[in-house]
Amino acid sequence: MLKSVVTRIGPVVFLVLGVVTGILWARAAAEAGPRPVSPVTMAEGQQLYAIDCATCHGPAGDGAGGAPRLDTGLASFSTEAALASFIRRNMPATAPGTLTPHQARAVATYLWTLNHPSPR
Ligand code: HEC
Repeated sequence: MLKSVVTRIGPVVFLVLGVVTGILWARAAAEAGPRPVSPVTMAEGQQLYAIDCATCHGPAGDGAGGAPRLDTGLASFSTEAALASFIRRNMPATAPGTLTPHQARAVATYLWTLNHPSPR
């Protein structure tokens, strides 16, 4: 008797607990704010650029491969984040969407720095 009750409500209890845990977890995550992003480095971006982008955009971003130059005048992107997002969705042109978000940010940081050298 007891065993059959447990067998019947067991899965229901299990489900309900799962849902409640999910809701609590999502709320906690929302309260914690945006997840911290791992830092990217110029070196990492530069290396990725050489591997994935240079054939079309030129080794120094000068457009030597026939694609638009990227070392200056990236005017259509108002923020580094917008640039990263474009790269993530559209580049490399032959394999869009293959960069991880982290890789896209690293390349964007590299290109952004080329376009916005810090004042000396
Ligand atoms: C197979 C050639 C090719 C490769 C590889 C490639 N691109 Fe491109 N890229 C293009 C072409 C062609 C355009 C122009 C058309 C367009 O915007 O889609 C472009 C446009 C862009 C633009 C927009 C330029 C502007 O002024 O609006 C950015 C930024 C860019 N590429 C970044 C990258 C990055 C970063 C990589 C490496 C991860 C990369 N591309 C790899 C061909 C390529």
